[in-house]
Amino acid sequence: MSFDRSIKIAPSILASDFASFGAECRAAETQGADWIHVDVMDGHFVPNLTFGPATCAAIRPHIKGVMDVHLMISPVDPFIEEFAKAGADILTAHVEAGPHIHRTLQAIRTAGVRPGVALNPGTPASAIKHVLELVDLVCVMTVNPGFGGQKFIPMHDKVRELREMIGERDIHIEIDGGVDPSTAPDLVTAGADVLVAGSAVFKGGSVDDPSPYGENIKAIRSAAESAR
Ligand code: DX5
Ligand code: ZN
Repeated sequence: MSFDRSIKIAPSILASDFASFGAECRAAETQGADWIHVDVMDGHFVPNLTFGPATCAAIRPHIKGVMDVHLMISPVDPFIEEFAKAGADILTAHVEAGPHIHRTLQAIRTAGVRPGVALNPGTPASAIKHVLELVDLVCVMTVNPGFGGQKFIPMHDKVRELREMIGERDIHIEIDGGVDPSTAPDLVTAGADVLVAGSAVFKGGSVDDPSPYGENIKAIRSAAESAR
């Protein structure tokens, strides 16, 4: 996984058919996805449950590119090893998930995975100032985590501030929640390069008829690239 700041569209399989994750990942990639975003929820840190490392391991062989695992769980540390073994390329932990985010991010790197840190809408950019040296990605939540299909919460100031804090470092800025062709351009202008999109990618299509995924990805990408 090499670093570049090109626009990357990362479909979130939270909006796909849970009975067909493997086929959904293959379809999303065939239709132009750059990364696959995998949302892990524990019913404790967020008010919803999805799945854990075993499902991630089962999905892994169906993803050719980057498997971007978003951990909405607390605690994180006892599960890092298992998610690393499951084949995650990126493991993103929330800064709000515990008192020792620095230790968590170190442990992710030690496990051989690229560390990411996520910020809830109510958390300021300054909360991660002292862990920037440890991460390859900052995820800015533009919804309160837990569910797909929620209304976008504007966070452009935060994205701009993070972009400035990051400077020349090789750190991605990812946006997660309510991304679609109408919200993508301003996010890119503010400094984002990875756009997670669930409903806006998977709407209108299916594993048997995946071409709408391709059209949806293309629409987000061209809106995003027009802002560069
Ligand atoms: C929300 C998840 C998101 C979600 C985005 O807690 O982290 O990844 O799937 O879904 P949309 O794009 O529908 O807002
Ligand atoms: Zn997510």
